Amino acid sequence: MTHTLVTGANRGLGLEFVRQLLGRGTRVIATCRQPGRAVELTRLAGEYPGHLTVVPLALPDPRSLGELVREVESLDIRVECLINNAGMLVAGEHYGSIEAKALQDSFAANAQGPFLLTQALAPRLADDAKVVNISSGLASIAGATSLFSPSYSISKAALNMATKLTSIALADRGIVVIALSPGWVSTDMGGANASLTPAQSITAMLKVIDGLRIDDSGRFLAHSGESIGW
Ligand SMILES: NC(=O)c1ccc[n+]([C@@H]2O[C@H](COP(=O)([O-])OP(=O)(O)OC[C@H]3O[C@@H](n4cnc5c(N)ncnc54)[C@H](OP(=O)(O)O)[C@@H]3O)[C@@H](O)[C@H]2O)c1
Repeated sequence: MTHTLVTGANRGLGLEFVRQLLGRGTRVIATCRQPGRAVELTRLAGEYPGHLTVVPLALPDPRSLGELVREVESLDIRVECLINNAGMLVAGEHYGSIEAKALQDSFAANAQGPFLLTQALAPRLADDAKVVNISSGLASIAGATSLFSPSYSISKAALNMATKLTSIALADRGIVVIALSPGWVSTDMGGANASLTPAQSITAMLKVIDGLRIDDSGRFLAHSGESIGW
């Protein structure tokens, strides 16, 4: 049996991924740091019996990663789509007072976590699976014009390199690995003034994911499906 695994699924874009995937009949493993507090995921598990498994995962903690892999092994499933969605942004940074901890935490959550999770789950990925690393337009070095959230931008640029390297590592199994930007979306991270709702962003990203071919592996795409300059 094949499943889609979504990280950071208790709120924001991750939760909307889960909602839309369940709505179209996909079996989902949803990870979050505190399943006991994930009220909406618990409700969805009741609404879609047998289709949603909620599993704890705090990135990039090695013990937590190990427990997740053991859980996936115990379910005896193949993951046909891994959506590395969990991420964090340190708000209010100004050049001149950027702290080491902000850079370290951002790298850990946004680059190290997704890279290590994909590596750990690689044996459980279906051949021809899709790995989608949720990146950001702010990761684009080619498009950088402001100093907005440096720790975030630097860590997401690192995620883009992790994406490219993972695409090379998994190419011989036919696994497609991409970096995908959701656009500016109204979540806790994106804020109320964003241009897209979570539903709009996820609908667009699922269309991109559905259309992925092996030739797309290693690309950096927008939610529209267009390439973004590295
Ligand atoms: N919203 C936008 O405009 C926008 C634009 C570009 C890219 N993105 C990217 O889209 C993804 C989802 O963002 P969002 O807007 O939905 O953000 P959000 O509302 O802040 O949700 C972030 C999710 O990531 C989880 N998370 C954060 N750090 C984690 C860690 N170390 N380990 C495990 N889970 C962790 C959070 O868990 P907790 O609830 O436990 O904190 C939460 O579930 C992120 O990768 C973000 O960078 C968003």
